[in-house]
Amino acid sequence: MLNLRLRNIAKLIEPCEVLIDIGSDHGFLPLSLLKTQIIQKAVICDINALPLQSAIKNAHQTHLEDRCTFVQSNGIQNYKHPVDAAVIAGMGYETIAQIIEQDIERFRLIDQIVLQSNTHLDKLRAFLMENKFEIVNEELVKDRKHFYVIIKVKSKKNVIVYGDSDLWIGPVLKARKDDLMFQYLMHLYRIEANVLKGQKKESSMKIQVIQAYLDIIQTS
Ligand SMILES: C[S@@+](CC[C@H](N)C(=O)[O-])C[C@H]1O[C@@H](n2cnc3c(N)ncnc32)[C@H](O)[C@@H]1O
Repeated sequence: MLNLRLRNIAKLIEPCEVLIDIGSDHGFLPLSLLKTQIIQKAVICDINALPLQSAIKNAHQTHLEDRCTFVQSNGIQNYKHPVDAAVIAGMGYETIAQIIEQDIERFRLIDQIVLQSNTHLDKLRAFLMENKFEIVNEELVKDRKHFYVIIKVKSKKNVIVYGDSDLWIGPVLKARKDDLMFQYLMHLYRIEANVLKGQKKESSMKIQVIQAYLDIIQTS
């Protein structure tokens, strides 16, 4: 059974042939997608041997090993075949950006890319904008006390321009007006209010943008 965060990542994957899960650890996400027939084949990849062994064990236990390829690799460097979907989840912004950057032309060919960064969402969105990946969907999840934002992207030929509210709140998420979004904005507000104590100029602008979106939800 997937946790809420992984369930929401899975929900963003449309049915396709091959998915690569980069930094898969135990392999729970691709094994679940295989079981539900959302994907037909999984490439389960991790930079470390131990997580990969755990994924291999789980694939055997669920009798899904014939539909899996296991690759020890930094990002997709050691897997050279085309895939239809890629997931990079549960890592920090720097690792996610490095994995995409080192094979950026191959990532451009992937139809569905789903990212879930544990840190610096604003930097991740800026990186995507600079590299012409459009954010086509964003999902917000609260699992126990933690908020997670899941971002689905697609490579574009045109320049993409995101403003401050797109980078700080999310180009898709900022249109959301439900209670979870209100809680998330309050969470961002508290973070910025704390940073503001350190007198960072960007934070005072950021807090005004967040406040504006909190006002929109409260008056709608
Ligand atoms: C915290 S786990 C996340 C597991 C799963 N993706 C999830 O979201 O639950 C991060 C995994 O990424 C792997 N990892 C870290 N850097 C990586 C890289 N550059 N390429 C591939 N895997 C990496 C780690 O070994 C670890 O197993």
